[in-house]
Amino acid sequence: MQFSTLASVFLALSGSIQASPLNPRTNATEKRYAILDNDWSPAGFIPFLMALDAGIEILGIASSTANTWQKQGAYHALATLEVGNLSCIPVYYGATHPIINTPELFQAWESVHGVLPWEGAFKKFNATAEALFSDPTSGDDPNRITPAAFVEGFPNITAAGTNAAAFMIEQVRKYPGQVSIYCAGALTNVALAVRMDDQFASLAKELVIMGGYVDVNLLQTSGDYLQADINSDINLMIDPEGSKIALTADFPDIVIAGNVANQVMSTQEFLDEVYEVKNPYSELMHKYYAAEAFFPFWDETAMALLADPTINTNSSTVYIDVDTAYGSPRYGNIHVYQSDFKPPNVRNVTYVHTIDGDKLKTMIKRSVQYPKSCADLAA
Ligand SMILES: *[C@@H]1O[C@H](CO)[C@@H](O)[C@H](O)[C@H]1NC(C)=O
Ligand SMILES: *[C@@H]1O[C@H](CO)[C@@H](O)[C@H](O)[C@H]1NC(C)=O
Ligand SMILES: *[C@@H]1O[C@H](CO)[C@@H](O)[C@H](O)[C@H]1NC(C)=O
Ligand SMILES: *[C@@H]1O[C@H](CO)[C@@H](O)[C@H](O)[C@H]1NC(C)=O
Ligand SMILES: *[C@@H]1O[C@H](CO)[C@@H](O)[C@H](O)[C@H]1NC(C)=O
Ligand SMILES: *[C@@H]1O[C@H](CO)[C@@H](O)[C@H](O)[C@H]1NC(C)=O
Repeated sequence: MQFSTLASVFLALSGSIQASPLNPRTNATEKRYAILDNDWSPAGFIPFLMALDAGIEILGIASSTANTWQKQGAYHALATLEVGNLSCIPVYYGATHPIINTPELFQAWESVHGVLPWEGAFKKFNATAEALFSDPTSGDDPNRITPAAFVEGFPNITAAGTNAAAFMIEQVRKYPGQVSIYCAGALTNVALAVRMDDQFASLAKELVIMGGYVDVNLLQTSGDYLQADINSDINLMIDPEGSKIALTADFPDIVIAGNVANQVMSTQEFLDEVYEVKNPYSELMHKYYAAEAFFPFWDETAMALLADPTINTNSSTVYIDVDTAYGSPRYGNIHVYQSDFKPPNVRNVTYVHTIDGDKLKTMIKRSVQYPKSCADLAA
């Protein structure tokens, strides 16, 4: 999984040397490792290509239940690694269920507080949609796989293990202070690792997440369905208790790509530009990134902040809590405080407001057009 071409060493070093005071922990001479936890999909591979492009060794990939049940997500991870000869990166199944939440609880909450535009794995079961194209949602068996959703190809590789949280703990103990935990799906696995080993969080390098919008309620009403959709987020809401455990744990740093994740939108023009170089990844991105709509580069923004913290052009240090009151319309959403007014048992995080959007596009384009493969990583 390591690679050491001159270009990649240069990229890794340049990313670190320019590190801003926003991330004083970045050490140019130290090898960087990451574990990528996400709700993977046919066009969801860009974050792992970006990490490899930055010279980060991906120790493993974990799946979480957020957009769909974790097993289906793990299969998408396996498939999208396979199409680019990246099957040397192991995939670990995450927890199937959030800490407490269930489809029934979530749907009962929605009947009181209103439905989410995107309900992810907890959308009502629809047999027709699953037979035709959809990833599984709700239903009796969360471990079922719906083959029609594998437009990238059905995986021929199997997962390396069944316990993502244990894998995360093992790796931060192996490389203390060097492993970045990236989570762009639900925080369930991270929460379990935090509770299984009370040194886990402090032994990691950092936690970087996608999710955690603040003060976007009015934007949900500012026009169309898309505005309601991109200003609400299933990642934290599908597991409010897990989110709270993870975001109050003593990671040396927590970086939140919340509102900023909506800054840079995908466009047909940009998809066409990336597809000027043809390979299996640029083809999948071109076909499926905007299959439903032109969404922002959510998970890519979080990965860019991990791979190169200098992309952060404005952020605040805020104390953060997650609303875990089931009766609240804000259940599973974050609330931020300044130091003087914070409640007990919360911690500060880096809440990013803006990034260098052109730099994000450059990073995405380069990683998709010239993806690393296992042959590069072994070299
Ligand atoms: C950077 O990492 C190297 C290798 O682990 C270590 O020897 C060095 O002390 C670190 N430097 C700083 C400033 O932390
Ligand atoms: C798995 O192998 C089959 C048969 O060769 C192929 O059609 C499919 O695309 C492969 N899956 C992936 C994800 O590459
Ligand atoms: C994957 O490896 C095969 C066999 O070495 C090669 O033919 C193919 O071009 C590679 N694909 C990618 C995307 O690197
Ligand atoms: C189930 O999915 C199908 C296919 O997308 C759709 O036509 C139908 O309206 C859905 N049913 C419900 C109850 O949402
Ligand atoms: C940084 O973002 C905050 C929050 O949006 C804003 O109040 C502040 O003016 C911004 N700072 C700069 C230098 O743009
Ligand atoms: C964040 O919290 C840490 C640990 O309590 C503290 O050392 C640090 O000064 C805080 N940072 C800011 C900017 O408040």
